[in-house]
Order: sequence, then C-alpha cells, then structure tokens
Amino acid sequence: MKSSQKSLSFINPRAKHNFQGRTCSIAGVGSYVPERVLTNQDLEKMVETSDEWITTRTGIKERRLAAPGETTSDMGAEAARRALADAGVAPEDLDLIIVATVTPDMPFPSTACLIQAKLGARRAAAFDIEAACSGFVYGLEIGQQFVMSRTYDTVLVVGAEKLSSIVDWTDRNTCVLFGDGAGAAVLRNRDGAHGLLTVCMGADGGKGSLLQVPAGGSAMPASEETVKRRLHYIRMEGRETFKNAVQAMCAAAEEALRRCRADISQVACIIPHQANRRIIDAVAARLKAKPDQVYVNLDRYGNTSAASVAIALDEAARSGRIQRGDLALLTVFGGGFTWGSALLEW
Ligand code: ACO
Repeated sequence: MKSSQKSLSFINPRAKHNFQGRTCSIAGVGSYVPERVLTNQDLEKMVETSDEWITTRTGIKERRLAAPGETTSDMGAEAARRALADAGVAPEDLDLIIVATVTPDMPFPSTACLIQAKLGARRAAAFDIEAACSGFVYGLEIGQQFVMSRTYDTVLVVGAEKLSSIVDWTDRNTCVLFGDGAGAAVLRNRDGAHGLLTVCMGADGGKGSLLQVPAGGSAMPASEETVKRRLHYIRMEGRETFKNAVQAMCAAAEEALRRCRADISQVACIIPHQANRRIIDAVAARLKAKPDQVYVNLDRYGNTSAASVAIALDEAARSGRIQRGDLALLTVFGGGFTWGSALLEW
C-alpha cells in the first residue's frame, strides 16, 4: 500500500484521555544480529534431527549465534545505536532505557544499566523488564506511558536476547528453535501523528510451567545438582505452547483492532512474534489477513524472544514494507504465559 493511496479510517482510543495533543511515535528503529550462522544442516550434526523436520515443523532454516564473549548488552547496545542514528537522537538526549530480555548479562546490574553505560546515555534512567517473547510490546506500552504523560520526552525500548546461553544443545525439542539478536526503538512525541494507537497486554501465570527455565533464580539457586539435572535451560511443552500462542496472538490482535475500530484489511503490515511459521500462518488465517500483509523473517533468525518483533519491525521499515502513514500491527506471545499487541500508525 503506497502512502499516497491511503485514506484510512480508524479511531485513536487515546483521544478520550486528556493528553493535550501529546502522542507517542516510533522515531527510529534499529536491529543487530550476530554474524555467526547456524544452519539446519549444522544442527543435523549436533542432534538427531533433519533440515526437512525443522523446515516443515517450524519454517526455520538458520539462526544467528553470538560470538564467544558477545553479550546481550553488546547486541542491545548496537541495535540501540542504530535506532538512535535512525531517529537522529544523541545518547545524552535519552531520558529512559527499557530493556526486555530473559537473558540478562547477569542477575544485576540490569542489562539496561549496562547498555546505558555502553551508549554513554548519562541522563537516562534504566531498568529491565521480563515478559519473555512479549517483552518488546510490553516495553512499548511502558515507554509510551512515560511519553504521553510528559514524564519523559525520549525513551529507548530494546529487546535483546542471547538465547544460545540458555538453550540445551542436546535437546532437539528446543535447540532448533532459538537464536540470538536485538532490536530497538526510540519513542517520542511527533506533532500531528497518531503513532502508537493502542497496546494490549495479557498474562496467564497459571501456565508458566509450560515454558520455563526452572533453575537459576531464588526458588532454585544454581547448585551442582541443578547443573547436573540441566535445569538452567529452556524447557517447553511445545504443543500446549503452540495452541496457546495461536489463541492469544489472535485475541490480542483482534482486541487492538476493535479498540481502534479498524479492520484487518487496513493494516499494511502485520508483524507477529517469530516463533513458528505454522503459528504465524494460523494467526494470519484466523485474522483473515492476506499472506502479503504478514512480515516473516524467522527462516533466517529463528525465535529471538524479546528481540523478535523488534528486529522484524526494523527490517520491515528499512525495506519499505511499512511507510509513513501505514498501519502496522504487532502481535506477540511468550513465556509466563504473556501476550500482547500494538497497533500503530507509522
Ligand atoms: N527433529 C526431529 N524430531 C523432533 C525434533 C527435531 N528437532 N523435535 C521434536 N521431534 C520429535 C518429537 O520427539 C516427537 O517425536 P515422538 O512423536 O516420537 O515423540 C515428534 O517430533 C513430534 O513432536 P511434537 O512436539 O509433537 O512436534 P510439534 O509438531 O508440536 O512441533 C514445535 C514442535 C516446533 C516445538 C511446536 O510445538 C512449536 O512451535 N511450539 C510453540 C513454540 C512457541 O511458540 N514458542 C513461543 C514462545 S517461546 C518463548 O517465550 C521463549
């Protein structure tokens, strides 16, 4: 859809709140993936699997792995630098840095603080959030609340993961699915723009055990025993997660459209969490979206959790799949369980 052809009709649910003309737009995006590529053929040599199984069950062909010593904060900082350059914002202008990750460099300091130091964003407050694969959308909601309320002018939201550090490379059920990378967005008011129209968030902690890293927290601190029992790696009930993901991503997307009285046909680009091609296809079919409305890059990166939609958003913007004035719809699902969606005017 070209910008010139657009006459979109939707409502901005934020208009009923008294933000005195203040909106929150994405002023710049950036992403970073490490150089090292791990292909399905490489995995065939590591566990009992095949390119055919991985491709037909997931759609993934390859994923990126961080270099030895490369950390989540390194990748997040690089994505952030690119987003800042895209927005034309200097690090010193940042008021707040929010980092979504399940693979922080360490329990503390937060990865957000480490990124703040790497960027030289001296004025910025910084904290991490943890909502697994939904983290970037959760971060957008938190960040835009600060911008809309005029608490802060410029907020950086980063989704960054080094999932290779919590993947059990002997477990074929999970090791074929995940990859490393980071994406970032700079949030600001843009006069006259709608920007983020609505963000939906949800959670069901009752299903947390279906997708988890059991040990390494205060419930089960690291010990010889936890290491021996491989409890520091991702464990997932794939089928249950799959069903819940389709249901929650559809419901979240529909809720965002309903709030804005917008129709799926108006959305130029749908950016779903990149976990599994079959989940994406099922979500698109239920939403009655056309295949060319849906952005997919999981064939190249696998599931990068909190970085997933952030990387895809950057690629979609850079490649011209989203243009100024377009509606874009993000819909996500992850451990917790958590889910969310964001409808925005680019
Ligand atoms: N290669 C070959 N065979 C495999 C592999 C593999 N890599 N992995 C599993 N299998 C086998 C299983 O052992 C099983 O064999 P069995 O029937 O002899 O027991 C068989 O394949 C089928 O396994 P299923 O788990 O039923 O396969 P399914 O079709 O469900 O696909 C998958 C598995 C890809 C994990 C899928 O369930 C999925 O994508 N789930 C959702 C993942 C997701 O959405 N995660 C999102 C959040 S992630 C986050 O928050 C960090």
